[in-house]
Amino acid sequence: MRIAVVGTGYVGLVTGACFAEVGNHVTCLDIDQVKIAQLQQGKLPFFEPGLEEKVLQNRQAGRLKFTTDPKEAMKEVDCLFLAVPTPPKEDGSADLSYLEKAVHTLRPLIPENALVVLKSTAPVGTTRSLAKLLSPLAVVCNPEFLKQGNAVADFCRPDRILIGADCLIAANRLKDLYAPFSMNHNRILTMDPESAEMAKYASNAMLATRISFMNDLSRLCESTGADVTKVRLAMGADQRIGYHFLYAGAGYGGSCFPKDVNALRAMALAYGFDMPLLKAVEEINQRQKQLLGEKIRAHFAPHGGVDGKTIGILGLAFKPDTDDMRSASSLPLIHTLVEEGATLRLYDPVAMTRAKTLLHQEPSLIWCANEEEVAQDADALVLVTEWKQFRFLDFPKLLQAMKGTAFFDGRNQYPIEEMVKFGFTYIGIGRGTSPLHLENMENSSGTATRIHR
Ligand SMILES: NC(=O)c1ccc[n+]([C@@H]2O[C@H](COP(=O)([O-])OP(=O)(O)OC[C@H]3O[C@@H](n4cnc5c(N)ncnc54)[C@H](O)[C@@H]3O)[C@@H](O)[C@H]2O)c1
Repeated sequence: MRIAVVGTGYVGLVTGACFAEVGNHVTCLDIDQVKIAQLQQGKLPFFEPGLEEKVLQNRQAGRLKFTTDPKEAMKEVDCLFLAVPTPPKEDGSADLSYLEKAVHTLRPLIPENALVVLKSTAPVGTTRSLAKLLSPLAVVCNPEFLKQGNAVADFCRPDRILIGADCLIAANRLKDLYAPFSMNHNRILTMDPESAEMAKYASNAMLATRISFMNDLSRLCESTGADVTKVRLAMGADQRIGYHFLYAGAGYGGSCFPKDVNALRAMALAYGFDMPLLKAVEEINQRQKQLLGEKIRAHFAPHGGVDGKTIGILGLAFKPDTDDMRSASSLPLIHTLVEEGATLRLYDPVAMTRAKTLLHQEPSLIWCANEEEVAQDADALVLVTEWKQFRFLDFPKLLQAMKGTAFFDGRNQYPIEEMVKFGFTYIGIGRGTSPLHLENMENSSGTATRIHR
């Protein structure tokens, strides 16, 4: 099949490369000339594990092309995927202007038998509106569920492939295209467009709700002496609950959860009612993004405050295995600490370039090449993004390089007992420790226990 993917971002490029991999001829179209020029030279515009080799191989095999020319992309195309952004408007609702502009440009160029597939996350009713606008072309929706950082694997072995269509023939055309990704067992769910569109928002909102629930609970854990990481294990063992997405931390970020939670609520408001749960999910997340800053402020309050302190930040991207900085929890933290007079030593395995463009030439930011450099003369270290390589750090070496002993674990990655044994003053999220447990630890380790809430 000849496929065009409109929008060559995290979703579009993965979609294009994976469809090319199974033998289709794919043209990726974008309005961003720099991005397309980079791709034409075999350079990826962002980091996504496993994507580079797929893009390069398929480009070399002549199955994957990149263009800014809509005519070239639409030439003899059988199927086109719309994967343009649907960012939030000020009121939280989805901004469909990218989609509208793309459709306006492409409408006269789309061959009459082509299937139009809406892959962008868009409010309920969008597929039907597009179908009216593009009539008599067949339009179906196919919301994407890939996760940045694992996008190629998610696309090739998805939990489900969702097709929202009224027309069986159109749905079957898309099913055929997805057949190579649904070999081992049927992963394709077909339903009406409204339900498919809603399912995408509902899934992201549910995941965000679980995170905010745990973050909210973590505050109570801290106050009561419970440890949220242990509470999670007990909760997750219940098969009705499961272990996934029960992590307390520094809040969720990225381009999807915040925008989709708000867009779902905006959809409800447009129908005349509120969804207070979603409002709380978002408010808890906003509050959580301030929490590390508050903990750092409280820790240094008796020692002259944050002003003049050096703080090392481990991880900048909104999550591991991506260089995406959109709504990253590191950003509000960095801004707060800089405003309060701290010098920050920063390191992320892949997001440094993107972070530098966002944070400009702030003189109090020192860009480091690795974890050891981050620790140099630092009064405190803060883990913000839980990259795998941060899991097994050489803690004695880091501590030796540091001026202070504080370690703020924004993702609850480390066992408290071990961190205390190393000599850190450990501050996690929601890791209250009962007085009896503290006493036992002191007795068994023979060292002073330093755990701060
Ligand atoms: N990023 C994710 O993890 C993810 C996962 C599932 C769904 N989604 C949804 O997929 C959609 C795309 O997200 P993304 O993260 O890939 O966005 P992105 O910002 O990474 O990429 C979008 C691309 O579309 C291009 N574009 C904008 N207008 C265009 C036009 N008229 N013609 C051609 N190209 C155009 C932009 O230049 C950009 O390169 C959004 O609706 C998002 O909610 C994203």
